[in-house]
Amino acid sequence: MAKKKKTVAVLYGGKSTEYEISLLTAFSVINAMDLEKYRVLPVYIQQDGRWIAGSEITKRLDYKDQLLLAENTAIENQAERWLAPSASIAENSRPDIVFPLLHGPNGEDGTVQGLFELLNIAYVGSGVSGSGVGMDKVLMKDILSAHDIPGPAYVSVARSQWERKAPSIIAEVKKAIGYPCFVKPANGGSSVGISRCPDERDLPASVKEAFRFDNKVIIEQNVSGREVEIGVIGNHELSVSVPGEIKTNEAAFYDYQSKYEDGKSTLIIPADLPDSVKEEMEAVARRAFRALNLSGLARVDCFVREDEPRVVVNEVNTMPGFTRFSMFPLLWQHSGLTYPRLIEKLIDLGLARYEEKQKIQYRIDQ
Ligand SMILES: Nc1ncnc2c1ncn2[C@@H]1O[C@H](COP(=O)(O)OP(=O)(O)O)[C@@H](O)[C@H]1O
Ligand SMILES: [Mg+2]
Repeated sequence: MAKKKKTVAVLYGGKSTEYEISLLTAFSVINAMDLEKYRVLPVYIQQDGRWIAGSEITKRLDYKDQLLLAENTAIENQAERWLAPSASIAENSRPDIVFPLLHGPNGEDGTVQGLFELLNIAYVGSGVSGSGVGMDKVLMKDILSAHDIPGPAYVSVARSQWERKAPSIIAEVKKAIGYPCFVKPANGGSSVGISRCPDERDLPASVKEAFRFDNKVIIEQNVSGREVEIGVIGNHELSVSVPGEIKTNEAAFYDYQSKYEDGKSTLIIPADLPDSVKEEMEAVARRAFRALNLSGLARVDCFVREDEPRVVVNEVNTMPGFTRFSMFPLLWQHSGLTYPRLIEKLIDLGLARYEEKQKIQYRIDQ
């Protein structure tokens, strides 16, 4: 007997500065999914937060359809039907699992994950707390440092603090961080709002730029080293990919243009590293994944330095770039897991996590 197809709702777009990236990701993932195995339902989230469900995908998309993914002209507005936590939801309109292909706030940060927890619907990736701390660079670094996982020194600044006492923060940065430093919105991605601040005179402008995108900013010590990233998948038993190095060709750091414009950066997979460094990176990646309470997938981004400790964590991404040509899928490709198989694996991990959660009892009288 043929196995029943699993219904996968693919979420994309989103109330995020990484909206456009998400559209590219959705196009790439949807086209790699085995339509014999999965019923794929596209769900488009507009930048204003409105949800629109498209009709089931029945054929490979071409570039014309890529636009349609965003415009969704001929759509039936069924998203609210399975989103509404009401008794009238027809069971067959609920997906077996949701694949949130959303980057940044309102997607990678626990918000959408919380919605699916409430609805008791399985989803791919980390849960509420893991996604939340993975998104917030200050909380992430607080937890990593509590677990003795090496990272640069940093200072966290709330907008209200900056408004009240900028001079004392500037003094603290001078003492604890030094120059150049990196100034970032605490919650963000794709390098949006990030600047490398060469000296104290530039700090107010860098801080102002970062505050455009968040009410909390992180100021970090500059790390000199090679940028090397590694993939982790799993829930309890973790698999680690080969590491991959990023070389930026023009910019001083891996900024938005380097990430998304052709020829502005080069990915070297696998990274050419001594075995001892690779092992150190694998161990750090596993520890970071567990420390942050992650599940499903993560890309752990490190700096590899000449000095000890050789491996320093920059950040952990719970929904890393995920087009066919992005670092995370390429790392797995080189580790023996093709893009379509990676997608299946992540769906299976999401379903396994959901099954495990069903063991939790919510009544005390049973
Ligand atoms: N402390 C640091 N020292 C040196 N370079 C940094 C530092 N922090 C960030 N960078 C550079 O800025 C890029 C983007 O920073 P990151 O924290 O990874 O933000 P995002 O979440 O937007 O990717 C990094 O890939 C790296 O090139
Ligand atoms: Mg990054």
